[in-house]
Amino acid sequence: EKAGYKHFMLKEIDEQPRAVRDTTLGRVSLDTGKVFLPDMKITDDEFRAATGITIAACGTSWHAGLAGKFMIERLARLPVDVDYASEYRYRDPIPNPSELGLLITQSGETADTIAAQQELIAKGSKTLAICNVVGSAVTRLAAGVITTNAGPEIGVASTKAFTAQLTALFTLALHLAQVRSTVTPEQSLHLVTELAAVPGKIETILRSVDDQCCDLAKIYGNARDFLFLGRGIHYPIALEGALKLKEISYIHAEGYPAGEMKHGPNALIDESLPVVCIATQDPTDPSSVLKYEKTLSNIQEVTARSGRVIAIAIEGDEHIGQLVEHVIYIPQSHELLLPILEVVPLQLLAYHIAVRRGCDVDQPRNLAKSVTVE
Ligand code: F6R
Repeated sequence: EKAGYKHFMLKEIDEQPRAVRDTTLGRVSLDTGKVFLPDMKITDDEFRAATGITIAACGTSWHAGLAGKFMIERLARLPVDVDYASEYRYRDPIPNPSELGLLITQSGETADTIAAQQELIAKGSKTLAICNVVGSAVTRLAAGVITTNAGPEIGVASTKAFTAQLTALFTLALHLAQVRSTVTPEQSLHLVTELAAVPGKIETILRSVDDQCCDLAKIYGNARDFLFLGRGIHYPIALEGALKLKEISYIHAEGYPAGEMKHGPNALIDESLPVVCIATQDPTDPSSVLKYEKTLSNIQEVTARSGRVIAIAIEGDEHIGQLVEHVIYIPQSHELLLPILEVVPLQLLAYHIAVRRGCDVDQPRNLAKSVTVE
């Protein structure tokens, strides 16, 4: 069933254009910009009355939650907390029934996530699930479900489920924004048009960066450590890039907010440390451009200490090519959608490094696809 692929992981990376497309199918109107969320026992009035959202999830799904916080806060102006599901119930959370609970889980069977959901419900919150498995435990407990239509994910390292989760979070953020009137109809139309263009852009990336990631794996496959840096909504993608590399190649990797480097981790940098920097920008968005400029100065701090920088940047950015050793280019998109594109080269980089190191890509040691114990 690997359809000619050597590994499920690579097959699932390649399926992402379809996974993202299927996750928006029937839920967004390209004529009006409207978002429709079926399977929702949470009314628009309840969405309007909500004072905040608590997201609980684990691993890669938690990274999606961190990115989702930026989407929801930016579009719907609703405060979002993101917790590790394994931490939530043990920190004696303050009950607030006007807050919605949001669980993000590929399998819907992660014990920690189910426990967090039960805690949220016990505290009086309605819960919403973003889940890839219809009928799973988390979906049965939830008042509303947004199904990620990624299809079955076999590789232990999550890839297409993650990009589908980001897609679902974007549609949820936009739906909340529409219900709460924090976006205009014109803005909505623009956002869904950008969303609809994402699958084609992933296809472009899959075609254009695979060879380059293979070459980079040759150069850096023996590194002992890796750093991944990003700012804002790109920081969760740095975390995800580091997690992918750790879990399948067994190389120690850390994701860090680029601006925090000078508060400690700069001490780690030397000529043997590859540093992957997410340095993308949406030129139509001043806050994104500012973040990009700050990231450039963080990159210069790394190169000044002889760190080996691999930048992820937007096509046409020649300036960055002069600053760093390697640049992986991706197409331009809306700031809140760039994460879906940025993660693809990071998945491919981790994949090619793991293959070169002879690792069992689909079944990494010590890991299970779904973690049903706390
Ligand atoms: C990483 C990975 C894990 C899962 C985590 C949560 O590639 O797959 O970190 O993301 O165990 O699993 P779900 O999403 O099924 O709750």
